[in-house]
Amino acid sequence: MSALLVRDLAQVVSPAGDHAPLRGTALGELRVIENGYVLCEEGRVAAVGSMSELGAVAADVRELDGRGRAALPGLVDCHTHACFAGDRAAEFELRASGASYEELHAAGGGILSTVRATRAAGEEDLADALRRRRGWMRSHGTTTWEAKSGYGLDRDTELAQLRAIRDAGGVPTWLGAHAVPPEFEDADSYLDFALAEVLPEAARLAEAADVFLERGAFDAVHARRYLAACAQAGLVLRLHADQFTEAGGIELAVGVGARSVDHLEATGPEGVRILGASDVAAVLLPAAALFLGRPMPPARDLVDAGAIVALATDFNPGSAFCESLPVIMSLACTQMRMAPAEALAACTVNAAHVLGHADRAGRIEPGFEADLVLLDVPDWRYLAYHLGGEHVAVVVEGGDVVWER
Ligand code: NIG
Ligand code: FE
Repeated sequence: MSALLVRDLAQVVSPAGDHAPLRGTALGELRVIENGYVLCEEGRVAAVGSMSELGAVAADVRELDGRGRAALPGLVDCHTHACFAGDRAAEFELRASGASYEELHAAGGGILSTVRATRAAGEEDLADALRRRRGWMRSHGTTTWEAKSGYGLDRDTELAQLRAIRDAGGVPTWLGAHAVPPEFEDADSYLDFALAEVLPEAARLAEAADVFLERGAFDAVHARRYLAACAQAGLVLRLHADQFTEAGGIELAVGVGARSVDHLEATGPEGVRILGASDVAAVLLPAAALFLGRPMPPARDLVDAGAIVALATDFNPGSAFCESLPVIMSLACTQMRMAPAEALAACTVNAAHVLGHADRAGRIEPGFEADLVLLDVPDWRYLAYHLGGEHVAVVVEGGDVVWER
């Protein structure tokens, strides 16, 4: 594998320090090198520093001109539902004229309409759709990403989703408890099936398990049962909780030692306090709040309370049809009072921590994977500052240029 030198960069930006996750004031501390370089060898970052420290460069090293550009770590999207078939454009139109997301869900639309489309798609079409969306994510600077199953809810389709995610280079999460499919009478009978028939194979494909704890989906008793079985099978635990109602999701997450609790649009001061004192990461999804017209999660309070805060897109066809982490960073800064530096750390180092990949992703440091984003501007803050701006000019993965605008 050849080496790549990105040279004469206006800025090289990476979260400060060398540990993960970052919390409190450390979340907002970045290391910015002006007039810098990044040397990649064997798919990893070999060296990073200022141009004045760059020694002799071997003749066979490819060079990339970084003049006028800022380099950032490849972004990490730690919560997506990018593996689905069909779309929900018609539902989007209904919601625009007043129908609520929860009403559509209760009427058998919403998640269940994507379940129908995903079950009907062949495995190849599903994999194609996911690869296409992976390209969209990449063009916005995402190099490490998670995706969940949860649109199959039968054995074959859940496993097909997990295989497609793994094969496309994503980190697979088994969202076996996303909704109760119509062929089951209630949540318990569905969980009897899912835990007996799907979990054993899902645990071989997935790195984590997730549950939608919400009225109309799974309650805290069901969620505890599902998560306990998934922990037994060796999976990391995550929860969708406090999206519409506070239903004990944070207490459960802490009790079972979950890696993260995600959404938190409805979380009040007690939930903030508990998370601030815990090691459960708060994964905030401002595009879902925006898309559904819900309050934003209490990001500022969570950061100030010392919680581990990460940001993600929640990319899915119903509640957040958005694959852009730069847009998420803009929302974090304009709607949730996060500083640009905090937003960047929340979707690099802390998101990598949520995925259990913080030893390889989320920083530009020697030994880390050579995943870089180069902006076409010399100031990295444009990523959040320019709402809907398209400043991602080059994406490098494993030391190779994989995308150029
Ligand atoms: O994170 N809330 C539950 N699950 C997804 C939405 C999935 C869908 O609407 O298709 C979410 O918002
Ligand atoms: Fe989600």
